[in-house]
Amino acid sequence: MNNITVDEGLVRIEIPVFDKVSAKAPVFYNPVMELNRDLSVTVLQVYQEKLGRDIRICDAFGGSGIRGIRYSKELTGVECVVVNDLNPLAVEFTNDNIRKNGVENIRTSKEDANIILRKCRGKFDVVDIDPFGTPAPFIESAATTLRSGGLLCVTATDTSALCGTYKEPCIRKYGAMPLKTEYCHENGLRILAGFISRTFAKYKKYTTPVFSHSTEHYLRIYLEVGKGAKKTDDSLKNIGYIAHCSKCLHRMTIPGIAPYIPSECPNCNGYLKVGGPLWLGKLLDSDYIKRMLHLLPSNINTYNKVLKLLERCYKESFGPATFYDLHKICKVLKTRSPPITDVLEKLKEDGYFASRTHIKPTGIKTNATVETIKESILSLLE
Ligand SMILES: C[S@@+](CC[C@H](N)C(=O)[O-])C[C@H]1O[C@@H](n2cnc3c(N)ncnc32)[C@H](O)[C@@H]1O
Ligand SMILES: [Zn+2]
Repeated sequence: MNNITVDEGLVRIEIPVFDKVSAKAPVFYNPVMELNRDLSVTVLQVYQEKLGRDIRICDAFGGSGIRGIRYSKELTGVECVVVNDLNPLAVEFTNDNIRKNGVENIRTSKEDANIILRKCRGKFDVVDIDPFGTPAPFIESAATTLRSGGLLCVTATDTSALCGTYKEPCIRKYGAMPLKTEYCHENGLRILAGFISRTFAKYKKYTTPVFSHSTEHYLRIYLEVGKGAKKTDDSLKNIGYIAHCSKCLHRMTIPGIAPYIPSECPNCNGYLKVGGPLWLGKLLDSDYIKRMLHLLPSNINTYNKVLKLLERCYKESFGPATFYDLHKICKVLKTRSPPITDVLEKLKEDGYFASRTHIKPTGIKTNATVETIKESILSLLE
């Protein structure tokens, strides 16, 4: 069998030749996920520093082993990494890749992720869930295994469900109604965070998102785990709904599991469509991101992209739960669009919070109402 050699971060791995990136490849490796892995290394280093002791990591869907081997080689303060995969060939390549990279605090396992997570209850500080498609069937096992102080890392590539292209699979997998809006990717992250929070709550555990991003075809979220009935009850107060008017673009957040949700837009009497239950709390922790910016190695291939993403995330971490799209508002107004930087400046001058978002180049996060944004846009075009 012919192999391909890949250099990423501080590691060099080999994988069998494949036609295209797909679940059918003999051993899965996706170069597009390099940025995901670079960010993961940085998040885990911030987490390890904060915890203040060596950490034990389970890379439950290891593929070629690249992620787990990078954790082992690039992080300081790692006690051990377990790289698990159900595919025997993936484990064979991971074993070779471990040997070739000369890392020692790492071993492999060949089980269903749900089995290893349940068998190793309480043994890991970090659980990384990076499956094909939806992570939904594996969250409950992570909830049983992670203790207070743990970190859960989750990738979801089923964005068509989470972001509302198809609502039935979202209802089926996450028990939530998605919203196909201009901020549908942020909403997808909120549905995922809400689902994780409700799953952990069964075990009197709660999850606090520390970092998340929507990039390319996937969503990625990192959450710290805490324990206690009262704290879990308090954390669940972050669950609620978003009601959205497609006519005037007004939107509102409504906290609660069974709150009263109006069906008529208070701004234009249009119809309000509703998404949720979802996480209305923070998806980004500004202190975490500040530390990530500090620790980010400048020699990674994705440095410029990661830096731009983190700088945007830092600014938007102080913003509200949704964002507006400048072009969409201009379409409703039937006008041309002023430069986004002018709109942001105008909103800030008028005393509002205003930032861009890493999710959409034309996105505006602000606490101004849609009518205020419309007035600001029109005043800039006068
Ligand atoms: C998206 S890939 C992982 C990629 C890897 N984390 C990386 O960063 O390159 C998903 C992997 O999960 C494995 N897999 C699929 N279902 C599994 C299961 N139920 N338990 C464990 N591994 C599974 C597949 O063999 C595949 O290697
Ligand atoms: Zn309206």
